[in-house]
Amino acid sequence: MSFTAPLTTPGLALDPHWHRRAVFYEVMVRSFMDSNGDGIGDLAGLISKLDYLQWLGVDALWLPPFFESPLRDGGYDVADYTAVLPEFGTIEQFRELVTKAHERNMRIVIDLVINHTSDQHPWFQASREDPQGPYGDYYVWSDTDEKYQDVRIIFVDTEESNWAFDPVRRQFYWHRFFSHQPDLNFENPKVHDEIFDVVRFWADLGVDGFRLDAIPYLYESDGGTGESEPPTHAFIAKLRAMIDEEYPGRILIAEANQWPHEVVEFFGTDEQPECHMAFDFPVMPRIFYALRSQQATELERQLSEEVHAPEGSAWGVFLRNHDELTLEMVSEEYRQAMYGWYAYDPRMRANVGIRRRLAPLLDNARSELELAHALLFSLPGSPFLYYGDEIGMGDNIWLPDRDSSRTPMQWTPDRNAGFSTADPGKLYLPVVQSLVYHYNQINVESQLAQSRSLLHWVRNVIHVRKAHPTFGLGTMRVLRTDNESVLAFVREYAGTGTHLGDSAERILCVFSFAHNPVSVTITAEGLEGAGLHDLFGGAPFPPVGDDGRLTLTLGSQSFFWLGADAAR
Ligand code: GLC
Ligand code: CA
Repeated sequence: MSFTAPLTTPGLALDPHWHRRAVFYEVMVRSFMDSNGDGIGDLAGLISKLDYLQWLGVDALWLPPFFESPLRDGGYDVADYTAVLPEFGTIEQFRELVTKAHERNMRIVIDLVINHTSDQHPWFQASREDPQGPYGDYYVWSDTDEKYQDVRIIFVDTEESNWAFDPVRRQFYWHRFFSHQPDLNFENPKVHDEIFDVVRFWADLGVDGFRLDAIPYLYESDGGTGESEPPTHAFIAKLRAMIDEEYPGRILIAEANQWPHEVVEFFGTDEQPECHMAFDFPVMPRIFYALRSQQATELERQLSEEVHAPEGSAWGVFLRNHDELTLEMVSEEYRQAMYGWYAYDPRMRANVGIRRRLAPLLDNARSELELAHALLFSLPGSPFLYYGDEIGMGDNIWLPDRDSSRTPMQWTPDRNAGFSTADPGKLYLPVVQSLVYHYNQINVESQLAQSRSLLHWVRNVIHVRKAHPTFGLGTMRVLRTDNESVLAFVREYAGTGTHLGDSAERILCVFSFAHNPVSVTITAEGLEGAGLHDLFGGAPFPPVGDDGRLTLTLGSQSFFWLGADAAR
């Protein structure tokens, strides 16, 4: 497969606010490409696929942990923060990945998992064996398991308590996730120093940013919820100050599965900035809710309440990632409805969520896949794609936990989907061979050969998005419509005129979630009398009335992105 005509974003390479316009792509090293035939994806394999990612239009990669680890939580159980897991490659290869990515104007963001380590980490081993020694205070130890009773359990499928008893030290240790992931003790200033050194190590290797995994949970206190407690924010602000001082331009991304008004605190304040980006957890499940309920109302409400990310910062929007589709940010009623639609088989559930990939969730319906992506690429914030979703890869719910959607990338219809030359039995996880999503049909090579494939469609949307900085930099205003199935908003950007395409612009985005054609009248306040044209093909549309009203018809589950000309 050869990839010419890379999709780049004008002016992005030198933009200090690059994260506000970038298209991110989450790729697990283990799952993407195996270069040496041992059945496990690796850094060299990922390097060999950078041309593909550049062709697709990806501006930044997010790599989940690829560090030394027993892999009992997909690498989020780190046993050595500054060593690459040998089966993934070497530090030298990581350096090469950074260089080759940068040559293509592509940035690299890595995961920083600092709330906890693996119980195999030498710090924990030392801490349990020698309470008085230098590592004795690196973790949160207690004689009882009664403290912090108000703190919720996250992995409800596997854990009954946030405390576990260690038979060696004969004390309990605190863990917010699996019991093999003891939480680090942030009350200990030495832990701060260690983490700063880890950040320096990777920043020195050239990484462009860090995703702060499980960031709300650093500190807990008596009577507190263990989420976003003040010292947690103080620590992030301190980390940000160090980054700004020593590595200006590198970014921090908060993974905080919370409501917008809580997440927004992770951006910090003007005096004490924290993260450059934060994932938008509440909006994601509402997209899925709208698709099945055929109602835009709940999504509309959420977007109207959306707290604006402060100047220079951005939301990270996503449809799926390597975790379950979390339903923590929806009411019980909506959650039950979503389980009914999307996880009718109990096997499809995990914790408070659904462990399926995008295409199977949407039952491989092309119109829904397009509608969902159109939202992803036009909502305020920067989009994060999950590897394989650009070709509509399937999942395997017979695999345990979140491995269901971490199977090998499907490149070709050949053995192991072109992912590896290993004996198929040796793969880290089997390739998908289900009736609908078999790698014979669903793979990059065959979609490249079909001009109307999902892959080409996604690439084209990325192309259109890149041509309009408004999507990344503009504000959003939800508009009133007379049809409950239709969501309409306008993205507006004043423009800087500093480079091509960066000029004042208004884009009207309209989405119909109805499963049949509809007609809608939109009150397009501020767009009175404006001419409209389709952003994809350029075709003119009837103008907005002088009273600001616009009547449109939409096919089932469809959308428009309409550029608005200056009022006549
Ligand atoms: C984050 C990761 C998830 C991991 C957890 C514990 O939520 O996304 O995969 O299991 O942190 O590290
Ligand atoms: Ca390998």
